Amino acid sequence: MALGAQGVQIGTRFITATECIAHINYKKTITELRDTGTRLVDMVRFRIRALHTPLVEKILNSPMDTDAHFNIQAVEKSWIRGDIDSGILPAGEVSGLISNIESAKQIIDEMVGGS
Ligand SMILES: Cc1cc2nc3c(=O)[nH]c(=O)nc-3n(C[C@H](O)[C@H](O)[C@H](O)COP(=O)(O)O)c2cc1C
Repeated sequence: MALGAQGVQIGTRFITATECIAHINYKKTITELRDTGTRLVDMVRFRIRALHTPLVEKILNSPMDTDAHFNIQAVEKSWIRGDIDSGILPAGEVSGLISNIESAKQIIDEMVGGS
């Protein structure tokens, strides 16, 4: 805002919001990571940044069918049910700055209030 932005696109921070249906394992992994805790993962048609989980380490070491870990079943099992090694968990490098699970209101208040 100080530099004149009129809006901001927020992804990772809201995954950790209490209101978000993401599993606590996904949220906690984000809060526990340092800024080096994500990796770029090549999918078949695109590339995503994701949490550096054991699954992602395996994919990076021996390229495999990444879509199998990013289809609706894998996403439901990992993002929502918390089996974090069943699917690729998207997250930005900003993860290194996130250390708390807070409500959406607290997150916005902190950003706008600057506290
Ligand atoms: C759960 C999740 C799903 C995402 N899905 C997409 C997507 O389908 N397409 C895309 O371009 N980016 C996707 N992103 C990346 C967002 O574009 C990115 O998070 C956004 O630029 C905000 O950055 P931030 O996560 O550092 O706040 C996703 C991110 C998360 C956390």
